[in-house]
Amino acid sequence: SFTPRVFSGIQPSGGLTLGNYLGAIRRFVEMQEAGTHETIYCMVDMHAITVWQEPERLRHNTRELAAGFLASGVDPEKSILINQSQVPEHAQLAWIFNTVARMGWMRRMTQWKEKAGKNAEEASLGLFAYPALMAADILVYHATHVPVGEDQKQHLELTRDIAAKFNHDYGVDFFPITEPVIEGAATRVMSLRDGTKKMSKSDPSDASRINMTDDADAIAKKIRRARTDPDPLPESLDGLKDRPEARNLVNIYAALSDRSVEVAFGEVAGQEFSRFKPVLADLAVAKLAPIATEMSRLMQDPAEIDRLLARGSERARAIAAPILAQTFDLVGM
Ligand code: ADP
Ligand code: NA
Repeated sequence: SFTPRVFSGIQPSGGLTLGNYLGAIRRFVEMQEAGTHETIYCMVDMHAITVWQEPERLRHNTRELAAGFLASGVDPEKSILINQSQVPEHAQLAWIFNTVARMGWMRRMTQWKEKAGKNAEEASLGLFAYPALMAADILVYHATHVPVGEDQKQHLELTRDIAAKFNHDYGVDFFPITEPVIEGAATRVMSLRDGTKKMSKSDPSDASRINMTDDADAIAKKIRRARTDPDPLPESLDGLKDRPEARNLVNIYAALSDRSVEVAFGEVAGQEFSRFKPVLADLAVAKLAPIATEMSRLMQDPAEIDRLLARGSERARAIAAPILAQTFDLVGM
């Protein structure tokens, strides 16, 4: 039996979005506060460089992401907060997993297919191997649970496959079969410009997303201008089925107000967008603007952020090093 332990990560490949906040960070804080699991949260800079990152941007984005975690309520006393490259055990276990994972498994990953696109020959080898590193991030701590958005579900399944194959090949019950934690209204926050695409920090259109650093005016403006169809909200939830943009705004409203979609929708059913959008904008500003303010305060002392991360790494390595040593031993190294 394994210690109940949560691991999850976010790439410092750009600013944090509302999607990262509602789909990931907010859940991280809930799990930290529940006190039922040890919680380890990670900036995955080694994942970020699988596509080109300007070095000074990467350094800035990593600190800003740390500030985003802290401002959202990740407490470095209750959780372990780390930057991936500072815990070398991740990369070391990833190499073992590169020998466990099969080419065919990796080729089936939709994120690989989407990110490499038609030009797969020019994509980095790291982009292809990304899910094996992600498996190592999780399993180097024997993490039992991983809170993620919908888009990461397939990578979690691959992590389970790698753990099972390792256990089978070496005839041991060493790695846990990790459970994804995917639930709530905001497991997939969509673009404000196109309800069929997920909101992402890598979308070239800034109007498509709410950044966690956006000020009150920017947040309100983006919500006012969010694409919608001309009809008012329907009278019942069923009526949102083929209206992805409307559905997305309702989901965001529910998630920001900490209620189920059913309950939150009950309040706004039948409303015109001209009435609903300002209510949503006020709520978003009330919830998000204080986080942005706290992030910018934290960013004024980058040395303090670096100190916190160095401490996190030490605590993380105390868990990871013995697990890696046992892995090497099982492999015969
Ligand atoms: P991004 O796609 O913005 O680059 P990451 O790949 O770093 O984000 O993902 C970090 C976490 O945020 C993952 O758990 C992912 O599932 C979650 N996440 C990212 N975008 C969204 C979204 N639009 N809705 C819900 N969760 C999301
Ligand atoms: Na992602």
